[in-house]
Amino acid sequence: MKQKILNLFVLCCFVLCAVACGKVAEVTEYSIIPEPVQLDVADGTAVVCSPLKISLSGINQDSPTAKYVGQSLSKLHMRPSFVSEGEEFGLLFVLNKTANEELGDEGYTLDANADGITISANTETGLFYGYQTFLQMLPDDIAGTTYSKITLPACKIVDYPRYEWRGSHMDVCRHFFPMSQIKKHLDVMAAYKMNRFHWHLTEDQGWRLEIEKYPLLTEVGAWRVDRNDEDWNYPRPVEPGEKPTYGGFYSKKDVAEIIEYAAQRHIEVVPEIEFPGHCCAVLAAYPELSCRRDTVYGVAVADYWPPTAIMCAGNDSVQTFLKDVFDEVIEMFPFQYIHVGGDEAFKHDWEQCPKCQARIKELGFKSEPDSPAEAKLQSWLTAEIEKYLISKGKRIIGWDEILEGFVTPSCTVMSWRGTKGGIEAAKKGNDVIMTPTKYCYFDYRQSDSLYQPQAIGRASTVLPISRVYQFNPSEGLSSTEATHVLGGQCNLWAEFIKTCEHQEYLLLPRLCAMSECLWSPMERKSWERFQGKVEHHKDRLTNMGYNVCWGAFKPVMTIDTLADGYRVAMEAEEIGTEFHYTIDGTEPTEASPVYAEPLVLPKNATLKTIATYRNKVREGVYTFEF
Ligand code: ACM
Ligand code: ZN
Repeated sequence: MKQKILNLFVLCCFVLCAVACGKVAEVTEYSIIPEPVQLDVADGTAVVCSPLKISLSGINQDSPTAKYVGQSLSKLHMRPSFVSEGEEFGLLFVLNKTANEELGDEGYTLDANADGITISANTETGLFYGYQTFLQMLPDDIAGTTYSKITLPACKIVDYPRYEWRGSHMDVCRHFFPMSQIKKHLDVMAAYKMNRFHWHLTEDQGWRLEIEKYPLLTEVGAWRVDRNDEDWNYPRPVEPGEKPTYGGFYSKKDVAEIIEYAAQRHIEVVPEIEFPGHCCAVLAAYPELSCRRDTVYGVAVADYWPPTAIMCAGNDSVQTFLKDVFDEVIEMFPFQYIHVGGDEAFKHDWEQCPKCQARIKELGFKSEPDSPAEAKLQSWLTAEIEKYLISKGKRIIGWDEILEGFVTPSCTVMSWRGTKGGIEAAKKGNDVIMTPTKYCYFDYRQSDSLYQPQAIGRASTVLPISRVYQFNPSEGLSSTEATHVLGGQCNLWAEFIKTCEHQEYLLLPRLCAMSECLWSPMERKSWERFQGKVEHHKDRLTNMGYNVCWGAFKPVMTIDTLADGYRVAMEAEEIGTEFHYTIDGTEPTEASPVYAEPLVLPKNATLKTIATYRNKVREGVYTFEF
């Protein structure tokens, strides 16, 4: 026993000393993502010491932001303590008494000099974002290292966002993710000043939200037969009597916990409850909501295409069901927006269904060349539910398919099949969120490397971070039309995402690029500067416990044809990558020549490369036949 107490004492002394006698660091350059509107480095330095004295002006210690700051600095072993206003401080938060118009509701200023670091803003949200910038001014390994003193270049920052909607979406239906992963997602969103968490909660492969009035939605709809070890596109058919064992759902208590966690991070949660399509899980639980009485629906086990399951728009009980569900959704989610889906609703059943056809007739809908009567029926159902939700103080968002019939002026369109739908909607005066697959679908691979994990689409369907960085949500719109663009969003559909690690891998570091596209003014964006910064953020995120994609290591080739061969130039996507190559057919190693300038190769040559990056061989051999 005595020995145990002694051991414990020695351990405590060691821990205390490690915390108290932290390392000293000098930061020489900032790598802030998203790039601030204005960052001027000044002469001199600011010093951040542990213990760190925090002073507050205009907010008190019990405010959510002050609490968040205190907890987060404790986790970083900065030993924060709150001191009275007017006392010497390390970090001062000032809630402006008179609003600084330039900053708006989310902006902040940050002043780092020999007197300390001062963050000021009109709102707590602004202070929160100023604090996130402050964290990024600290060393890249701050998440895993105890520092007693950090010296920073003095600077002045003025910063505010370009767009109000800076979204990140998570599909928890194709595969289910635990609460801890949702919180981890919210943490990384907050670090990059993203502010809308689009939670895709209902799908063919699972209904993930507790609804008390319809318990079968989760008792039946949240579970599917497990085919996780099989190819998503070609699962073994379900056999009679097989038990659905894979799935899960979020209880009302879970939702409240996520909403509070998000709110502490100044993130609004936008639930997506899909209708009329993508509803196998609903129809497995309540088949009477379908057009067909002859079909037994099951929760889809994997790939399900085309998604023909659809709720019957001619059946009044569908509206009753939806309104009941939304009543509970409204109770759970206090924010303004509710996403109602609306994408990929295949209407074959509606064409055959006497009730749906009778409804079309009753409403007087006629088919036109680019707008079939069934598309108008979907628009009508959407408008009916929207009317109900507006009466409860909510606003709806729908995927751009909702434009195919007609849209009410009050609904917000989320444009995913390119930006065409979004542009059309903005021209009509509807609010728009841009999330075109080309720039925003993070379920695509990050490169066409042979060595990337499986993802959606073909091996050639890729979305490199360099393309994400080109995203401009207002492209193609006049300045008046662009006022309807609320912002943009990245989407993480989970067909091929079975693990938390893979989800993070697809998200990071592309989220860094997305955040800069949605926050920073166009004139402050620079791909070269961003590339340098993101190298730091890969370290930063790794130290925070995320599984980042280190990059794409297939050389980008430029090939010129010569009279008797080829001139081949190779470029790396990640700065700091070196290519080692052979042209004699042998396997390259780290000892093979390093590519330095374009190669002149004869006809029928074979070029083989491997990449080294940060002193490690990455991926494997690439072979190019000429
Ligand atoms: C979607 O990707 N089906 C909205
Ligand atoms: Zn029907």
